[in-house]
Amino acid sequence: MIAPCQHELLKKHTACVVWLTGLSGAGKTTLAMALEKELYNRGVHTALLDGDGLRLGLNSDLGFSPEDRVINVQRTAQVCKLMVDAGLVVIVSMISPQAQSRTMARSLFNPGQFFEVHVNAPLQVCEQRDPKGLYRKARRGDIAQFTGISATYEVPESPCLILQTHQYTVSECLEQLFAILEPALGRYSINGRMNQQPD
Ligand code: ADX
Repeated sequence: MIAPCQHELLKKHTACVVWLTGLSGAGKTTLAMALEKELYNRGVHTALLDGDGLRLGLNSDLGFSPEDRVINVQRTAQVCKLMVDAGLVVIVSMISPQAQSRTMARSLFNPGQFFEVHVNAPLQVCEQRDPKGLYRKARRGDIAQFTGISATYEVPESPCLILQTHQYTVSECLEQLFAILEPALGRYSINGRMNQQPD
């Protein structure tokens, strides 16, 4: 059996999870895709798990009750675990509104392997953006249990990073992400640079 650290050696970067949590319309998917592209350009092998995408397949049996949202996160976290053990940097983009389930997800990983990032914009801004027209429907009462309107979003108490997407551009948010990720991506060369001294 190949140990996780051997996978990391092959990939030349450490494996971790970047867990983007936040309201619908806060910018999670946009940032997840931009992050994935930038990591790819730097030679980092990634996987992107997006809530909307997962709900078409793995989690297609789940709705938006609190119980289903817990299962949604649990399954996704287990998939992340498998992928991290295979040496990947996994980017998750899910509302994941319950603090306890995010803590459960974190508990599957070693210290320093799980980055909880709060993609934050005020509800009014998300509602104004309303890229899928869902807030409008939720306000009309056409969607029940809509996060931020009729279902709670528990703000992360101590995330690694808060990205204020109403204040910063995508590339500024990426810079903030890389400020925490680059040192964490290990002692291997990324883009020709050494992040840390080898042991
Ligand atoms: S989570 O709360 O269970 O983590 P997830 O990220 O998987 O949510 O899915 C959120 C996406 O589902 C939203 O971006 C939106 O497109 C869609 N959606 C449909 N109904 C709801 C709802 N009631 N609350 C939140 N998002 C919803």
